[in-house]
Amino acid sequence: MRAAVHTRFGPPDVVRVTERPVPVPRPDDVLIKVHATTVTSAECAMRRGEPAWGRVILGLRRPRRRLRTLGLEVAGVVESVGSGVSRFGPGDEVFGFTGFAVGAHAEYVRVPASGSLAPKPAALTFAESAAAVDGATTALFFLHHKLSVRAGQRVLVNGASGSIGTYAVQLAKHFGAEVVGVCGPANVELVRSLGADEVIDYTERDFTADRSRYDVVFDTVAKSSFRKARGSLRPGGKYVPTTGLSNNLWALWTAVRGGPKVVVGMSVDKSTTLPVVKELVEAGVLRVVVDRTYPLERIAEAYRYVDTGRKRGNVVIAVVDPVDPSRDALTPP
Ligand SMILES: NC(=O)c1ccc[n+]([C@@H]2O[C@H](COP(=O)([O-])OP(=O)(O)OC[C@H]3O[C@@H](n4cnc5c(N)ncnc54)[C@H](OP(=O)(O)O)[C@@H]3O)[C@@H](O)[C@H]2O)c1
Repeated sequence: MRAAVHTRFGPPDVVRVTERPVPVPRPDDVLIKVHATTVTSAECAMRRGEPAWGRVILGLRRPRRRLRTLGLEVAGVVESVGSGVSRFGPGDEVFGFTGFAVGAHAEYVRVPASGSLAPKPAALTFAESAAAVDGATTALFFLHHKLSVRAGQRVLVNGASGSIGTYAVQLAKHFGAEVVGVCGPANVELVRSLGADEVIDYTERDFTADRSRYDVVFDTVAKSSFRKARGSLRPGGKYVPTTGLSNNLWALWTAVRGGPKVVVGMSVDKSTTLPVVKELVEAGVLRVVVDRTYPLERIAEAYRYVDTGRKRGNVVIAVVDPVDPSRDALTPP
């Protein structure tokens, strides 16, 4: 099968599409024929071998053999199942998350049947379904499971035009909160169209200058910090970053002190959130933002684009689905 492989850490060009054996499903696995996957910021960091402490997991000098084909999000069709699997069968259309096993940047990937896998939303293409996995479930995990966001609260979403951010704006609104989105000038209209009550262009105004205004600052891109954002929180407010090692220390520190809290977490097991995302998408509550779509052969270009830090929503890799310029206005020729 064709697979995108990187044998050393570095810039996008370290990723090459080459032949690899098709994975053999273990008794609890589902083998998926990949129709679409994505390139996320997390994979860009893994490809670079960052952060430095992450090399303990990624590989000290070069990527560990089992982490050389990245790919976290997948939408496709079940090709075969292991002997112990009854939940899925060949021909089922699914979407899911590979987590620490990665491997979806390929024509086939195996995923545990009891893991982060669900029937694909009927209303979405494979490309859209792949883009509705990590960002949507992570936003749901934080806003609903960790924070119980509800009516009467004011939620600020920093990085509102990114993958987690585009879903966070829609979900916080769905839960009844007043939503303020923060993004750059090019994305103000997009974020407004997702339902934000107010959009702050960070080149014009610094939200951290607001005093006691927010119940939640959901910093999806960790471009701010607790130090800067704490003054903008109401009493009992929470600063919620998705990344950054030091935030774990802040979370411990603020847990034992009065005042605003730092809340951290990792959305890895998506077995309960994926079916909810499917329902919300099918009910028209969640819209999927696909910025660009690239064929697998041009995955290095996709990495180069995501490395800019300017992607809007999600960048899809079409493995089987042909790229359809009529659906994705920004798809490169
Ligand atoms: N904790 C977890 O469970 C978990 C799960 C998934 C991902 N993550 C992490 O979450 C992070 C975000 O992921 P993502 O995929 O949502 O990000 P992303 O889509 O790559 O974010 C891109 C967006 O960031 C915005 N941005 C850039 N600079 C900004 C700034 N100074 N202020 C506000 N927005 C800015 C850009 O908007 P403009 O172009 O408008 O500036 C762009 O739309 C990653 O570090 C990832 O590793 C954590």
